Amino acid sequence: MKFFIDTASLAQIKEAQDLGVLDGVTTNPSLMAKEGISGHDRVMKHYVDICNIVDGDVSAEVIATDYAGMIKEGEDLAALHPNIVVKVPMTRDGVKAIKYFTGKGIKTNCTLVFSAGQALLAAKAGATYVSPFVGRLDDVSTDGVQLIEQIRVIYDNYGYGTEILAASIRHPMHIIQCAEVGADVATCPLSAITALFDHPLTTIGLEKFLADHKKAATAVKA
Ligand code: G3P
Repeated sequence: MKFFIDTASLAQIKEAQDLGVLDGVTTNPSLMAKEGISGHDRVMKHYVDICNIVDGDVSAEVIATDYAGMIKEGEDLAALHPNIVVKVPMTRDGVKAIKYFTGKGIKTNCTLVFSAGQALLAAKAGATYVSPFVGRLDDVSTDGVQLIEQIRVIYDNYGYGTEILAASIRHPMHIIQCAEVGADVATCPLSAITALFDHPLTTIGLEKFLADHKKAATAVKA
C-alpha cells in the first residue's frame, strides 16, 4: 500500500519524506488555507514547492465547479509538474472533466466520494485515483472502511485500473484496516504515519538489548 501525506505543510511533507516511506501528497483547499496559502501565484508556487520535495504524485484540487472552469484550472495545474494529479470533486461536471483529462493523459483524483456508486462512476470516467473519505463517514456513524472494501470488490470484478485512495484517515488503525481490505493508497496526517512506528515492547526490548550490551562491555573491561 502506498502512503501519501494529507497536508499542505512543507515542513510536515519534508519530515514524512525523511522517514523514507512517503509515496505522494494530497492537498485540498482547506489544507492550503490552513497553511495561509492564497492567491493564484502563491498557490501555484506552493504546488511546485511540494513537487520538489516528494518524488511521487501530488494532488492539486480545482476550485471551479463548472466543467469549463475545471478544465481550464486542471490544465494549468497539470502543466506545473509531471507529478501533479488534478483533484476534481464528485459531481456531474467533475466526472465529465475526469473523462476529458483521462483522454488528454492527465492524471486525476476524484474527491469527496462517499458511496460505491460514486466510485463506480469515477472508475468509468477513467480516474487515476478515487478518494473515499473514511473518517468523515465514521463521523456520521457509517463504516468508512466498509466502503473501501465494497469499492475493492467492485473494481476487482471488472478490472478497473482506478486506484483506491483511502482519504480522511484519522488514526493508525484506519491505515491498518484500509490495508487489510486492499486500499491501494492511504493518505494520512503525519501523526497517523508516525504512530505506526511505536510499540512499547519495541522500546522496552531495545532498552534491554542496549543495557545488556553495556553490561557485557563493562564486564570485559573489568
Ligand atoms: O483530502 C481529503 C481528506 O483527506 C480530508 O480529511 O480529516 O478533513 O476529513 P478530513
